[in-house]
Amino acid sequence: MACLAVLATVLFLILRHRIFSHTGPLGAEFGAPADPSEPYSAARPDWYFLFLFQFLKLFPGGTEVWGAFIIPGLVMLVIFLMPFIGQWRLGHRFNLGLLFSLLAGAGLLTYMAWAEDRHNENYQSAAKAAEGEAKRVRVLAASPSGIPTSGAVTLLRNDPLTQGPKLFAQKCAGCHRFDGHDGSGRPVKDPQSASDLKGFASREWLGGLLDPDKISTTNYFGATSHRDGKMARFVKKNITGYSPEQKENLRKVIAALSAEAQLKPQLAADQREAAMIEQGRTLLREEMKCTDCHEFGKKDEDATRSEPYRVRLA
Ligand code: HEC
Ligand code: HEC
Repeated sequence: MACLAVLATVLFLILRHRIFSHTGPLGAEFGAPADPSEPYSAARPDWYFLFLFQFLKLFPGGTEVWGAFIIPGLVMLVIFLMPFIGQWRLGHRFNLGLLFSLLAGAGLLTYMAWAEDRHNENYQSAAKAAEGEAKRVRVLAASPSGIPTSGAVTLLRNDPLTQGPKLFAQKCAGCHRFDGHDGSGRPVKDPQSASDLKGFASREWLGGLLDPDKISTTNYFGATSHRDGKMARFVKKNITGYSPEQKENLRKVIAALSAEAQLKPQLAADQREAAMIEQGRTLLREEMKCTDCHEFGKKDEDATRSEPYRVRLA
């Protein structure tokens, strides 16, 4: 009867969960496939083991065996002996005292673990990233190509949307930023020494670069050697005094330049405003003086070299 009752309870919980929620607290976590080649800093035990996890942190380096085996082992031993100890009046009090201090200690450690994580930006962003990857991998697995024979792990390894931010954090965030962070949502400690690349090549980004108030800020050329370079001087000297008509021309130039990048989110606008963009191209070459210094649409001589393998040394 007892077994039946347990079974019925479990079944009830499962069905209730199935019917009433998809991602409720009762559901087992369904994360992205574990990838041993990547660090995973969002790993945490379930809440009822958090105290042990926190306890382990008190024993750094070689002393870990005390926190992992010896002390918990001794505590377990005493708990096993409790029925015998409890036969004496004093022993009974000892048992009660020990029990309540263990519970209080576990409670305190659980709270500490929770509070520490709450203020740990690295953990928070890793947990968020893990959540995002879990969602993404489900989309990829459900796509027509499904799970490749190389295994579910490669779904995310070969996914640009997943790898891009990670590569940015590794290779670019030392100097650049993406919307103020390292691409994967984490803050960067090193000072920013190059532009913020969120929306790079979009009309908005180029509009900022060609804005006299913005070009020499940290999010554009402010922290680079171009801070007071030719371009910054041109923008500040010439564009500051633009008439409304020239400003309108600049808007067209920006749209034309941005259209070169064929950015997906801008494709509709680029098609809609094809005529304006064509005007922009002409303005860029003629009235707006960009080609005084830049080239526009000229073949890259280096790229058409007859010996494509030749390494450029200069
Ligand atoms: C060592 C610092 C450093 C690293 C690392 C770096 N960049 Fe840059 N990047 C710069 C600087 C400085 C400029 C400004 C132009 C220049 O000085 O040549 C720049 C310019 C750019 C530009 C042109 C836009 C602009 O602001 O002028 C793009 C796009 C760009 N970088 C992308 C990347 C990407 C993508 C990565 C990572 C794969 C990367 N950069 C890594 C320093 C860096
Ligand atoms: C006086 C010469 C000059 C003129 C005129 C000029 N630029 Fe520049 N531009 C530069 C130089 C030089 C750079 C490289 C940064 C530096 O050293 O200032 C640059 C950089 C840029 C960049 C950044 C490229 C990158 O890799 O991030 C863009 C975009 C740009 N210019 C667009 C324009 C547009 C659009 C116009 C016309 C409205 C224009 N420029 C007019 C000299 C000029």
